[in-house]
Amino acid sequence: MFSPEGPTLRELTVQALSSVERGYDLLAPKFDHTPYRTPDRVLDAVASALEPMGPFGAGLDLCCGTGAGTDVLARVCRERVTGVDFSAGMLAVARERPVPEEPEAAEVSWVRADARALPFGPAFDLVVSFGAFGHFLPRELPGLFAQVRSVLRPGGCFAFPVGAPPRPGSRAYWSLLGFDAAMRVRNALWRPPFVMYYRTFRLGDVGRELARTGFRVDLHPLPGFGLRSDGSPRARLVVARRLP
Ligand SMILES: C[S@@+](CC[C@H](N)C(=O)[O-])C[C@H]1O[C@@H](n2cnc3c(N)ncnc32)[C@H](O)[C@@H]1O
Repeated sequence: MFSPEGPTLRELTVQALSSVERGYDLLAPKFDHTPYRTPDRVLDAVASALEPMGPFGAGLDLCCGTGAGTDVLARVCRERVTGVDFSAGMLAVARERPVPEEPEAAEVSWVRADARALPFGPAFDLVVSFGAFGHFLPRELPGLFAQVRSVLRPGGCFAFPVGAPPRPGSRAYWSLLGFDAAMRVRNALWRPPFVMYYRTFRLGDVGRELARTGFRVDLHPLPGFGLRSDGSPRARLVVARRLP
């Protein structure tokens, strides 16, 4: 499936019938050969948008998986880069990544923890996250955002890219709707649940929830992704700054 190095359909089915954590443990060795890893194009666009706001000190990649977002942090953070994820399998692959050789490069470390209970004090200037919000139910977002706020130093930022939702009736619209519906059926019939919904993380709700948690939210268009027919950007970077 996806590419010769990617998982087979059988492997994907076994993964999808597991818990989120176990599913990623199983997928980890082949994860970088799937479209679920955030593409370099998105990582580059986010790094370019963050660069003028930096440099930052310490950075955290929330739900880091095999470490895609730590490359963004390495570009904009001078002090330390940390990846956190609850899948031991994904972290094992992340730990195999080459260590940056430049003498001024920030040191990278990996921590196994649940994003809903982060084991850090207010030690970070920048938290980024890529491709993971679909794993949280809408009712979990207030707690998740409060966790992020608690690990940021005053004035620190929480940044993540968000794509515009597909136009109703388009092919992408129906495929995301179909995926979420299949997941709901799967989770109604099978334990443990595998929480992954594409359509629950909506920019308007997310902005309101971040503001309620104590962030000031700014939206930055990511110009490389172009505009929709109504003139709005196809992709934006949400930058939520921790208020005192
Ligand atoms: C689609 S992958 C994205 C990985 C990486 N950020 C990327 O963009 O390539 C989602 C990751 O979120 C992690 N994850 C999901 N729920 C989590 C939670 N509650 N706490 C920590 N990690 C979680 C999974 O283990 C997985 O590595």
